[in-house]
Amino acid sequence: MSCIITVDGPSGAGKGTLCRLLAKATGYALLDSGALYRLTALAALQRGLDITDEESVAEVASNLDVAFMTSQTGVEVMLEGKNVSLDIRQESAGMAASKVAALPLVRAALLARQRAFASTEGLVADGRDMGTVVFPHAAVKLFLTASAQVRAERRLLQLQASGEMPDFDKILAAIITRDKQDSERASSPLVAAPDAILLDSTVLSIEQVFDVALHAVKKYTSL
Ligand code: DC
Repeated sequence: MSCIITVDGPSGAGKGTLCRLLAKATGYALLDSGALYRLTALAALQRGLDITDEESVAEVASNLDVAFMTSQTGVEVMLEGKNVSLDIRQESAGMAASKVAALPLVRAALLARQRAFASTEGLVADGRDMGTVVFPHAAVKLFLTASAQVRAERRLLQLQASGEMPDFDKILAAIITRDKQDSERASSPLVAAPDAILLDSTVLSIEQVFDVALHAVKKYTSL
């Protein structure tokens, strides 16, 4: 049976980095569930659909033609044969993903696709509802958070490093809006599973978060 580690939490808390480190340390596969919501939103927008039209967007989610390809620089995300790795990382794609993610039919359409990743020997699953809904029987559940201020500061540095001139207040406002949308929706809201281990990267470095996480993984699995 597949050994599953779930990592949930708000945008920008460092889940992606933690999951990549955990996948490398364990040799497990990685599920970036946020990418599936981003791809659904992108595919719907490319078709000119209204992203609040639940049935049409769910149809797009059911028939998503995606592939995750490992390359030297990381994982390349292909949508209908086209590399959309950069497109899905845009802030606008994140916001659109958060909107389609609130639609119950869309979540239902992506459920089986996410669970299929568990057919591998082990899986590190990154998202909002991995420990609560998608993999409620996971061996280890982590919930990684950080203050909105610190997440916005990190995002600002990332954008500046890639040559952009971002506005801090806009970044912070977008993070707060996305947190609100993801936590207050009725369908699978962002919430820590009761049996999740809480990690706060406001006060912990990514190395410290990784140490605690790996310790938990070793304690609760046969690794
Ligand atoms: O993790 P991310 O920023 O790539 O996710 C983009 C959006 O997708 C996020 O704002 C909420 C949604 N999402 C979700 O509702 N459930 C998941 N398991 C993963 C992402």
